[in-house]
Amino acid sequence: MKFFVDTAEIDAIKELHALGMVDGVTTNPSLIAKSGRDILEVTREICDIVDGPVSAEVVALDADTMLAEGRKLAKIADNIAVKVPLTWAGLQTCKALSDEGTMVNVTLCFSANQALLAAKAGATFISPFIGRLDDINIDGLELIEDIRTIYDNYGFDTQILAASIRNANHMSECAKIGADVATAPPGVIKAMANHVLTDKGLAGFMADVEKAGIKIL
Ligand code: G3P
Repeated sequence: MKFFVDTAEIDAIKELHALGMVDGVTTNPSLIAKSGRDILEVTREICDIVDGPVSAEVVALDADTMLAEGRKLAKIADNIAVKVPLTWAGLQTCKALSDEGTMVNVTLCFSANQALLAAKAGATFISPFIGRLDDINIDGLELIEDIRTIYDNYGFDTQILAASIRNANHMSECAKIGADVATAPPGVIKAMANHVLTDKGLAGFMADVEKAGIKIL
């Protein structure tokens, strides 16, 4: 499973990238707003760091303006994936940009039918939002399973990009199901390293290091 990092924070991207943990980056208008930076400038900076796909989202609601915005975003770098919402206008924009050879990430997906439409429209990535479904007591991971089944049934090559990931458990569950990509905030990726027995074991080793005065350097 590829790891994308869901942030527009440059330092966090650099830290994870140095460890080989970043196969791509996703942003959205809320993350850009949080960064306090200009969308074109910060997206360009991310593309300079990361070789893999960098999702940058359109902000228009109608297809013509979305397409113009998408074309402008795509000019930033070769690894831009234009992110469009899963609306009819978004699907029209997805088809047009995909036909032009631009990667497209269709976002705000909450149903298997939406994912089916995105694949038909040529999406490179479909972004089902796990956490926001969980928030309303609908099993987000079940949606990932359903989309996996449907895409495999028909050989769609649209990649399942599990999004709205809120915890480390979501990451391993997505990997078990076979999501192609999971995008998570930096804190969730780092939290994957945590285990209470690791902490406990290390504390025991450190007590013995102290007791025996073990030194290596
Ligand atoms: O990639 C989409 C993601 O940023 C949404 O996450 O936690 O706002 O639902 P969240």
